Amino acid sequence: MSWKIPLFDLDYGPEEEQAVLDVLRSGWLTMGEVTGRFEAAFAEACGVKHAFAVANGTVALHLACLGVDIKPGDEVIVPALTFVATAACVRYVGATPVFADIVSPDDLTLAPESVESLITPRTRAIIVMHYAGYPCDMAAFRALAEKHNLKLIEDAAHAPGAELDGRRAGSWGDVAAFSFFSNKNLATGEGGMVTTDDDEVAAKLRRLRSHGMTSLTWDRHRGQALSYDVTDLGYNYRPSEMLSALGLVQLSKLDANNQRRRELTTAYHELLTELVPKVGIPFTGQQAGAACHILPILLPEGTHRPDFMDAMKTRGIQTSIHYPPIPEFTAYRATSGGLEGLPFTRAVAEREVTLPLYARMSLDDVRLVAESVREVLGAKQKL
Ligand SMILES: Cc1ncc(COP(=O)(O)O)c(C=O)c1O
Repeated sequence: MSWKIPLFDLDYGPEEEQAVLDVLRSGWLTMGEVTGRFEAAFAEACGVKHAFAVANGTVALHLACLGVDIKPGDEVIVPALTFVATAACVRYVGATPVFADIVSPDDLTLAPESVESLITPRTRAIIVMHYAGYPCDMAAFRALAEKHNLKLIEDAAHAPGAELDGRRAGSWGDVAAFSFFSNKNLATGEGGMVTTDDDEVAAKLRRLRSHGMTSLTWDRHRGQALSYDVTDLGYNYRPSEMLSALGLVQLSKLDANNQRRRELTTAYHELLTELVPKVGIPFTGQQAGAACHILPILLPEGTHRPDFMDAMKTRGIQTSIHYPPIPEFTAYRATSGGLEGLPFTRAVAEREVTLPLYARMSLDDVRLVAESVREVLGAKQKL
């Protein structure tokens, strides 16, 4: 399907092409020197001691759970309104995800009060997710974690470059996970990053990323090691050098592109408020410091969402849903208790639609989308 305005688009140019060509011509394709440079640049941009690149955001989350020693029998509190990987990583280590509510229909990030109400003697950690690139209330979560002796993991997939009180996403928890999936602010197709300030956690996770081995193929290639021991049950979660090369170029564009996303988001909010005041607009006025990854709106109560999305599609505009809540998925329903006790997630999940947002969008594109929303919602008889 060719869209007039897709949901997301890459900001790729000759720099990305050249970076990949350079890797291909270097003759070294897997985790090596370029990955090392990407990790150092990402750690610096994030303001953390350690960053290590991995194959995708889901394995970054798995490593984050291993890093803070989540074990079978533990409970980990996660948002219900997030991508399934935020909860799946908890199950990978044999623990149980417990689902918490969002703050309100105006703020779709995790609610500290809801999290606190779910803490039990088995709770081991909290995973926050900076929904749409808007930072969670990290002061409240840090206080909760300290009070109840819990680990704090950031799912920062939406939030590379987001800032709060002068610090960046990925530096607020014990450990954090980023995704560089195609639709992300920093996009390399697949790819991810783990960040932490904890030397021990970093050393452990570096080994687990590559089979628990004490030396890498790259070390042996450089003549730094002849053999290796295996000290843990590890994985192959390594990235390729092509991913890291793309990541380095994309990182150099991140701050400017996030700024552009903030401008586009503000323009969207102003236009929608003026043209379709009956639409709910989460995060109004909260753009400062946000990574503005996606543009969620809430359809008026009673709107038939599939018809709305179809009508936008016939106008060439792609929309999406972020997210079908995890507790309602077949693989989670039986054990999660559904959306019982999560009133805001329930209310929002039925009405949320995501509009197109990407750095290369024009203000005319934003106007076209906002006017299409007005037209479609104006055609009341159909919806
Ligand atoms: C909130 C969130 N967490 C985790 C992930 C998983 O990342 P990946 O697709 O790179 O495995 C994604 C991305 O798709 C995401 O949006």
